[in-house]
Amino acid sequence: MKEQLAKIRAEALAAFEAAQDSAALDALRVQYLGKKGELTAVLKMMGKLSPEERPAMGQLANEVRAALESALEQQGRKLEAQALTARLQAEAVDVTVPGKKVSIGHQHPMYIALDEIKDIFIGMGFDVLDGPEIELASYNFDRLNAEEGHPSRDWSDTFYFDEDSRVMLRSQTSPMQVRAMETRELPIRIIAPGRVYRKDEVDATHSPMFHQVEGMVIDKGVTMADLKGTLNTVVEQLYGKGTKTRFRPHHFPFTEPSCEMDVQCHKCGGVGCPTCKGEGWIELLGAGMIHPKVLEMSGIDPNVYSGWAFGVGLERTAMRRFKIADLRLIFENDMRFLEQF
Ligand code: PHE
Repeated sequence: MKEQLAKIRAEALAAFEAAQDSAALDALRVQYLGKKGELTAVLKMMGKLSPEERPAMGQLANEVRAALESALEQQGRKLEAQALTARLQAEAVDVTVPGKKVSIGHQHPMYIALDEIKDIFIGMGFDVLDGPEIELASYNFDRLNAEEGHPSRDWSDTFYFDEDSRVMLRSQTSPMQVRAMETRELPIRIIAPGRVYRKDEVDATHSPMFHQVEGMVIDKGVTMADLKGTLNTVVEQLYGKGTKTRFRPHHFPFTEPSCEMDVQCHKCGGVGCPTCKGEGWIELLGAGMIHPKVLEMSGIDPNVYSGWAFGVGLERTAMRRFKIADLRLIFENDMRFLEQF
């Protein structure tokens, strides 16, 4: 039995030392010290010894057990330390590797132009409103004095959602005039930028989706002179001092009188060139004095209050601002184009 214990001790210690990882070591623990382990098996035979032999053998067995346990613990710690070192080496970060370049984006040119427009109007005391793109025809047309049968209500021009032509994608930001009159206290000074939709084919100057900025003022004693003065100020701030404008008579159902405003061509300075199609002027926006019927329909007394409104195409404004020749460039999101702004 003595030899058996000595053999187990020698074998076990050698095996522990040879263990490569903690799983292997654990298996060895079971093999030697477990319930069905080799040492346990020897201890179970103690009962067969004579009473004289037992104490000495018992002591020896305990010594072997203590030796194995301490060797196990030592080897366990050694393996843990090795594993940690290996992991630290594997996960080491090489701080000398050159970093990856992070490319930072920037605002789209059209939104740069919009922010400039917003800044100018906010500086003049206007609020900026947001409104729905899915709009009721009553806001887009009826309450803007465009009655049944008005050509702009035609299915060939407008995206409707229902057979009765009641719900639509707004074709202009002008319904925001009605929404502002409905929800705001007088006097009103607002702009309302946003997307609008028309059944247009895509070309260098058209897109079925584009952006407008609506502007509106309602107060006592507001005149066409205020409209012209405000728009001239905006144009000069946007396009530079001395930029000339001209106002031409026009027709919109919701303004009376109505006009269109042109800016002098930035390319030729008014002489006439391909950019302005030989006109010397480029059409920028529609505007006018709010029709008394439109005020009345929204519960504002046209005998006390008057107002003006305008609607400007945002793409067109950005194109002029950044000298962009083709509207499609604004929507294509080609990085080579966008990176220039
Ligand atoms: N809504 C008109 C358009 O889309 C523009 C406009 C707005 C005209 C406000 C007059 C007043 O063409």
